Order: sequence, then structure tokens, then C-alpha cells
Amino acid sequence: MGTLRVGMVGLGVVGGGVAKILQESAAELARRSGRRLELTRVAVRDPAKSRDIALPAGIVTDDLAKVVEGDACDVVIELMGGTTTARDVVLRALANGKSVVTANKALLATHGAELFAAARQAGQTIAFEAAVAGGVPIIANLSQCLTANRIESLTAILNGTCNFILSKMHAEGVPYSDVIAEAQRLGYAEADPAMDVDGTDTVQKLTILAQLAFGAVADWATVPRGGIDTLDLADVRFAQQRGYTIKLLGVAQSTPTGVQLRVGPTLVKNERQLAQVGGAFNAVRVTADAVGELLYYGPGAGRMPTASAVVADLVDTAVGRARLTFDTLGLWDASAPGPAIASP
Ligand code: NDP
Ligand code: HSE
Repeated sequence: MGTLRVGMVGLGVVGGGVAKILQESAAELARRSGRRLELTRVAVRDPAKSRDIALPAGIVTDDLAKVVEGDACDVVIELMGGTTTARDVVLRALANGKSVVTANKALLATHGAELFAAARQAGQTIAFEAAVAGGVPIIANLSQCLTANRIESLTAILNGTCNFILSKMHAEGVPYSDVIAEAQRLGYAEADPAMDVDGTDTVQKLTILAQLAFGAVADWATVPRGGIDTLDLADVRFAQQRGYTIKLLGVAQSTPTGVQLRVGPTLVKNERQLAQVGGAFNAVRVTADAVGELLYYGPGAGRMPTASAVVADLVDTAVGRARLTFDTLGLWDASAPGPAIASP
């Protein structure tokens, strides 16, 4: 049995989970991949930092080149976050003949066209199941299981941090400012939690889903968005007294003039399924012409659920499924423009 040598950039919340799965499920993963998946290099900012995961000596480095260049790694998992160094990491990995797995929605929403073009040119792939809805396999479902359908709409809770905060505000009457630190401690929030609470993270994920569902490429920065950072307990009480729950929803809808996208805090009737999605869970409600209505639901943030999606992408890369998906999806492909984005 051969070995796929895996390089990783980032050993934080998600990277730590990926390393744990690779260690603890090595035999099952080898069976499913037809190859041993061996972590050969992990780049971090500070190799001296104490960590809750033990790796063999000599693997951890602060030299990104040891992961993205040279021959120590066949494939690179990008789990550092951000859009500047991460962009460079992905471009260098691709240029050096390494396919990429990433959980970084900000990176894809901002530089997707450039990165996918670079992957095509290099004959490599980019897989990104973990970039939207954490452990919920929404990317695979939209790109593989629903291809017989014309999607009509997506209505989604896509940010675990916001859903966690809103759930606590509703259930326990605790103010927003008290809950955000807990969301950070639990590993749900972005390095800059403003990205979560101002709606940016939800918009970035929504534009990725909209491309899969409708083929429409949107500039996330122009999508109308609101966050939960302007809500207080008085808003929550107002909703509760009238039989509603406040959710941060991302909505993408096919209309005669193009695909409409918006993100914002929304009153959802308590009896609706989306109102009952608690904690850091995410949910995506899909309506489509053939299948009708579907609801995907599960943990949208946090170490192990997100690592589950990353490692699934790694296995897909090892067995060639990532190649099939990458080649057939035509994402961010300027030669095949999709429907327009409707003006707000
Ligand atoms: P963390 O902040 O926990 O971890 C980031 C890791 O990247 C750290 O190990 C850090 O090193 C390393 N790193 C940062 N900058 C550099 C650099 N310049 N060179 C080398 N290493 C660097 O982030 P998360 O694990 O939470 O998130 C990672 C990615 O996954 C992000 O894109 C995020 O959006 C995405 N994601 C996160 C989810 C979650 O629930 N947390 C869910 C879905 C996606 P060091 O440890 O030394 O500081
Ligand atoms: N910060 C993100 C969230 C992580 O809370 O949903 C998952 O993408």
C-alpha cells in the first residue's frame, strides 16, 4: 500500500482535529483511501506553543516552504485562515504540484476565481467541504446529489457562532456581550469574531453555495447584509412575545431577473424547523423543482465536525473523487458565465 504525504498549514481548532482523526482512524482511512494518509509536515506560527495534540518529532515547523514546496508533501491542507498568506500558501502549493484542501470560506469567496484558475493550470484540485456549514455535507450534496434539479432557493443558517449566541439570548436571556467570549472559547468564532457577528462569514458562505446551486458568481462584498451585532435583549423579547425566534439567515433565490442574495437577522415563526436549530448548529433549506424541499442540518462549527469534512476531502483527493468533482463543477470558470446576480 502506498502513502499519501499530507502537509498542513495550521494546527489550531480545526488543524488539531484533523491531526487527531488522522492519528486515531489511520487504519480505516487507509482502507477507504487505498493509501496511508501520513502527516509529514505541519506549519504553524509558533512551533514552541503548547498544544493538546502530540505529533512525531520534526514534523512541526514555522517554515511554510517546507509544506508548500519541496517533496515532503503530496497534498496541502490549508487551515490557517485569513486571505493574504493563505492565498500565497494555496498558490504556491498548486504551483508545486500539490492539490489543496481548505476550510477557508473567506479565501474562496475573495480569491476563488484566481485560485481555481491556478489549480486548473497546474492540473491540481481544490476541495472545500468544510468551508460551508462545518460538518454538514452541503457542498457534496449540492454538487453531486441534486444535479437533476433546478434549485429555486436556499434559506440557511450558516454561522455557528451567531446561532450559538442567538440561542443563548433566547433561552437564557443573557446579553450578546456575555456569550461571544464563550463562542470563542469553544472554538466556533473566527480569529476576528467581527467577521461572524457582522454577517460577513454568512455572506461569504452564501456566495459559495449560490455558485454551486445556481452557477451565479457574486462579489460577496456587494451582497446586502446585516449581522447580529446590532441586536440586544429587547429585540429578542419583542420576537418571543410574538411567537418568533430571531435567526441570522442567508437567502439565495432564483428570480426572473437573476439570483437574489441577502443576509440578515430574520424573524422566524417558532414552529418552523429553522427556528428550532440551536447551539452552533447550521441548517440549509433547499427548494428545487424535482425533489421539492430538503433540510440539511448539523454541527456548523467546532473542532471535530469541521475536521470530519476536511478529512473527507482528503480521502476524496486520495481516491480521485475530488478530481471528478473539481473537473465537472466548473466553479469560478470565466469561460462559462452563469446567471446574473439581481440588484438588491
Ligand atoms: P485557529 O486560529 O484555531 O488556528 C489557526 C492556525 O493557523 C494556528 O495553528 C496558527 O499557528 C496557524 N497560523 C496562522 N498564521 C500562520 C502563519 N502565517 N504561518 C503558519 N501558521 C499560521 O483557526 P481555526 O482552526 O478555527 O480555523 C482555521 C480555518 O478553518 C479558518 O479559515 C476558518 O475560517 C475555518 N473554519 C473554522 C471553523 C471552526 O469551527 N473553527 C469551522 C469551519 C471553517 P499557531 O497555532 O502557532 O498560532
Ligand atoms: N466562525 C464560523 C462559524 C466557523 O461560527 O460558523 C465555521 O465556518
